[in-house]
Amino acid sequence: MKDIAGKVAFVTGAASGIGLGIATALAQAGVKVMLCDIDKAALDAAVAKLRQTNADVDGVLADVSLKAELQAAADAVIARYGKVHILVNNAGVGSGGSYARWPDGMTSWVVGVNLISVIDGIAIFGPLIESHGEGGQIVSTASMAGLLSGSGSLYNVTKYGVVALSEGVRQELAPRGIGVSVLCPGFINTNIADSADHIPERLQAAIPPLPTEGPSLEAMEGLRQRLAAGIDPLYVGELVREGIEEDWPYIFTDNEFEPFVDMRFANIKAGFDRIRGRTPRR
Ligand SMILES: NC(=O)c1ccc[n+]([C@@H]2O[C@H](COP(=O)([O-])OP(=O)(O)OC[C@H]3O[C@@H](n4cnc5c(N)ncnc54)[C@H](O)[C@@H]3O)[C@@H](O)[C@H]2O)c1
Repeated sequence: MKDIAGKVAFVTGAASGIGLGIATALAQAGVKVMLCDIDKAALDAAVAKLRQTNADVDGVLADVSLKAELQAAADAVIARYGKVHILVNNAGVGSGGSYARWPDGMTSWVVGVNLISVIDGIAIFGPLIESHGEGGQIVSTASMAGLLSGSGSLYNVTKYGVVALSEGVRQELAPRGIGVSVLCPGFINTNIADSADHIPERLQAAIPPLPTEGPSLEAMEGLRQRLAAGIDPLYVGELVREGIEEDWPYIFTDNEFEPFVDMRFANIKAGFDRIRGRTPRR
């Protein structure tokens, strides 16, 4: 999508980290940005900071895992700016745990924020972008964990879902002038290790508190260190801006995990090679 100045973007999870980086990079390019987040204090602070640069931005509070709140946020964008061209489904939460350690509340929370909100976001905003005929772009934040699953973590399941949805919807929306990109970041210096601070009240009782000792805590400490040494979220925002302008199908942030993706594809290829030449019984 060329000539993004003057266009309107809606960015979820925009009060912190990658979402704030994307909102900032778009605002710096002259895009009007509606920032959306569940954290009111952080959202107000982000909007105030961006306005100091004369950016045309506003904020709307929503728990994006609830379709009614996402719909109300979409209504707020149209009321404020008249139309919308760019949807950035970025809100997401981290979750540890693997096989057989998935409390029900955790499933609802992680799948709701990381995947259902992307499905609902595209369903709500896609037709709004289509309606004005000026074209647009949908960017959804997956992860390298959307291409590589090192464990049975629910997080990876949701991120594979975001990649699948983006690849599929891209085919469908290209003829209608809407580009679709999936962002697959590596380690970025954000607050994602503190995701538990954003568990909605309705789910808090169903999610056990984080352990205060043991291997999970050590793993969490390791993650915090990787994130602290990670890439600057504004750099990611600038890549996303370029990805929108050039309609990149995949937006990567760095090459750290590329060899592992190559290994995965080689394993898949080996699966086909194993049965090559056989005649399937019908
Ligand atoms: N940080 C990384 O290394 C990394 C790597 C790969 C993918 N990601 C993905 O990037 C996205 C952004 O995460 P981040 O790293 O910037 O983390 P972050 O915690 O700094 O930002 C996430 C934002 O989402 C908001 N949020 C959480 N739940 C919400 C809800 N229900 N409704 C609306 N907003 C909600 C939070 O308040 C926060 O402002 C996520 O989808 C995450 O999975 C991050």
